[in-house]
Amino acid sequence: MIFDTHAHYLDSRFDEDREELLSSFNSNGIKYVTEVCAAADDIDSVYNFTKKYDFIYGALGVHPSETDKLTENDMNRIKELAMDEKIVAVGEIGLDYHFEDDPSPEVQKKWFIRQMEVAKEVKLPIIVHSRDAAKDTLDIMKDMNAHEIGGVIHCYSYSPEMAREFLNMGFYIGIGGVVTFKNAKKLKEVVEMMPADRILLETDCPYMAPTPHRGERNSSLFIPLIIEEIANIKGLSYDEVADITMKNALTMYGIKE
Ligand code: NI
Repeated sequence: MIFDTHAHYLDSRFDEDREELLSSFNSNGIKYVTEVCAAADDIDSVYNFTKKYDFIYGALGVHPSETDKLTENDMNRIKELAMDEKIVAVGEIGLDYHFEDDPSPEVQKKWFIRQMEVAKEVKLPIIVHSRDAAKDTLDIMKDMNAHEIGGVIHCYSYSPEMAREFLNMGFYIGIGGVVTFKNAKKLKEVVEMMPADRILLETDCPYMAPTPHRGERNSSLFIPLIIEEIANIKGLSYDEVADITMKNALTMYGIKE
């Protein structure tokens, strides 16, 4: 069975068939999903979503691109809801320097740090989103003693050398559809060198669909394609990859079955 550790099923691209899709998961080998919050306006919806479905867990936090209007009220709401057992992480939080229109690096850094403090307070791991910001991400995480918090670098996009730094901090690495892309040489190298017991499977759906569905709406039903690729790279069987990554996810999120 499979644990999709990072999904966005509240996205409007699932409005048409959300119910039907989710109900097909168990018979297709998808056992658990973590729904990840990205904007402050969605904090309550993600929480409510985890209450509607037994197999859906939640992560509460605000994506770097959505930090410009954040307030301490939002932090308090996250802390309050994080007491619930279905909320298993603070995320996604981090730095994204890709788009010029996004909040300034200063604003992003401030809220990355603040949300790490919240994670420490509520004793939950963090889901880190980091794009075009490797050095600042690593520096801030070191400053904040992130090894005491734990968590995952989701949709990992940096070098094998940088991966080593995050692994040394005790972090997991989130591997998704990109690993199946022909030109994803760097990411394949990361998977090859890293220990299997630090890999988490993720879709980041509706984004990041694996080959041969690249560009389509992604869903947890495509995770088997990611498993096959990882199994190939690491010389493991399909079931071994599914089992190890299930165990990794349960451990990181602190879920007792
Ligand atoms: Ni995401």
